[in-house]
Amino acid sequence: MSFPILRGSSLRETEVGKKVTVHGWVHSRRDHGGLIFIDLRDFGGLLQVAFHPESHPEVFKLAESIRSEDVIRVTGTLITRPASMVNPKLATGKVELTAEELIIFSKAATPPFEVSADTLSVNEETRLKYRYLDLRSERMRRNIRMRHRVIKFLRDYLDKEGFVEIETPILTKSTPEGARDFLVPSRLHPGSFYALPQSPQQYKQLLMVGGIERYFQIARCFRDEDQRGDRQAEFTQLDMEMSFVGRDDVLMLIEGLFTQLVETLYPEKKIMQKPWPRLTYHEVMEKYGIDKPDIRFGLELTDITELAHASEFKVFKEAKLVKGITAAQSFSRSEMDELEAFAKEEGAKGLASAKVTADGFESQIAKYFSLELQKKIATAMQAKEGDTLMWVADEKFKANEVLAALRNHLGDTLKLRDPNLLAFAFVVDFPLFEEGKLENGHFAPSHHMFTMPKEEDLKLLDTDPAKARSYQYDFVLNGYEVGGGSIRIHDPKIQEKIFSLIGFTEKEKQYFSHMLKAFSYGVPPHGGIAPGIDRLLMILQNEPNIREVIAFPKNQTAQDLMMDAPSWVSEEQLRELSIKVTKRE
Ligand code: AMO
Repeated sequence: MSFPILRGSSLRETEVGKKVTVHGWVHSRRDHGGLIFIDLRDFGGLLQVAFHPESHPEVFKLAESIRSEDVIRVTGTLITRPASMVNPKLATGKVELTAEELIIFSKAATPPFEVSADTLSVNEETRLKYRYLDLRSERMRRNIRMRHRVIKFLRDYLDKEGFVEIETPILTKSTPEGARDFLVPSRLHPGSFYALPQSPQQYKQLLMVGGIERYFQIARCFRDEDQRGDRQAEFTQLDMEMSFVGRDDVLMLIEGLFTQLVETLYPEKKIMQKPWPRLTYHEVMEKYGIDKPDIRFGLELTDITELAHASEFKVFKEAKLVKGITAAQSFSRSEMDELEAFAKEEGAKGLASAKVTADGFESQIAKYFSLELQKKIATAMQAKEGDTLMWVADEKFKANEVLAALRNHLGDTLKLRDPNLLAFAFVVDFPLFEEGKLENGHFAPSHHMFTMPKEEDLKLLDTDPAKARSYQYDFVLNGYEVGGGSIRIHDPKIQEKIFSLIGFTEKEKQYFSHMLKAFSYGVPPHGGIAPGIDRLLMILQNEPNIREVIAFPKNQTAQDLMMDAPSWVSEEQLRELSIKVTKRE
């Protein structure tokens, strides 16, 4: 038996002549030549309802009192609209309900912003405070519906592939994902705390020891880090782990899953390259200066340090790295000033530039370069006449950071970022450790300490660990890191070695002893990945930030403005938890 409540927005011409009862919110009301028309809104969309004074005077009278956002029920007969009244923009645009009965369930106070229009331009704090109203807007309904469809697709697809969904604990112990933990005090164990999971990393690996083989979870993760457009304190991952897999098996699964998802749910979007390109970490850092490149457009970077050192330009001669971008167009003086200001805001000391002409560089710094050197630089940067070259001279990290931001900025200003083009790519061969040693002489894992070094680099662990690459991989889309994962270490000897390279004390090792112990009872080779669902949806829905695709997001300072959380708790609650607050804002 199907659900008995009808949605007005689902009515079509095939139902014309039927007597139906529909429910919803008054989206808008228009009075026309003695008739009252309302657009009745439900989760699916709008339906036009007409109130006639002659045939149903009582109902008409009541209809005169209804206002926007009142909640009502209407019973009536569905009719075809005259051809001149058809609204091609509405799915219900060919029909109309003639009201015969009306019940007003609830009157609405004037909302703080109009929900019948797009709310993106409304002050966001107000939208978040009244999120239940914002959810009535078409944009939010669309995003919420697509979020549901995407998650359902993921579940169905993985179910078919033999995965099982398992819920892992929320009250748990700190996991090493690199952010701060949210802690929950324990009443029964005074002075002890649970940590909310930054990800289900250890549990999912233990599930592999438990013989589950293919696990997934629509997993809520918690990280106490600064909020950004693509970051929330609380977010959702499609968390996955598989046994008996190598890196390419995981990548193949992901590529198949997300390709089919896009083709099924977003047929209007085009996947830029199939199969998805696989780029090494080294390659993307060279070409794009960042490990999550937007490869929808070129504007690749070129390292010209050696050539720059041969110039007479002091800034270039002395720089550790000189790297540049070739743009296939010229810029006005004010446009160049704006680009330099942008680069400085990103931390550059300056932005040198030159226009390539038939007679060499046109630039304030041209005099420091021989004509021959200018030609060599232009050739190295694959520039042709009319192109503009821009350079940053700095140490490697800074130069890359600034140029990557500048490249994306140019992508925006030159309109090279087509939102309907999806440039998926895998980034592979990450270094096992972050560049440079820590103050204590040890290394920091670039992903987490369970990530397997590449087989051919295992010997480097004894000789030159900084050079070792790992089986870590990311999946990037249009300039965002959407997912990250790795093949894990299942050999206790390698795990021990990694622990000592990152300088774990015996006490710290003890912290992970349950993992090593579990592995001692027979562990399959395993690996996994965790695409971020909010980030993915933000991109697919063409939204500017992830808050737009989350029903109840936190604001920029991690507050829930609607619930007013975080908030104070009573002295009594604190006493029960054996907690003393030393500072209060
Ligand atoms: P990682 O830390 O790379 O890996 O996270 C995986 C993906 O989760 C999303 N993500 C976030 N989304 C919104 N707000 C945040 N604060 C946030 N932090 C991360 C991103 C990111 O790519 N346990 C490993 C996965 C594994 O190894 O299997 C992990 O969590 O889309």
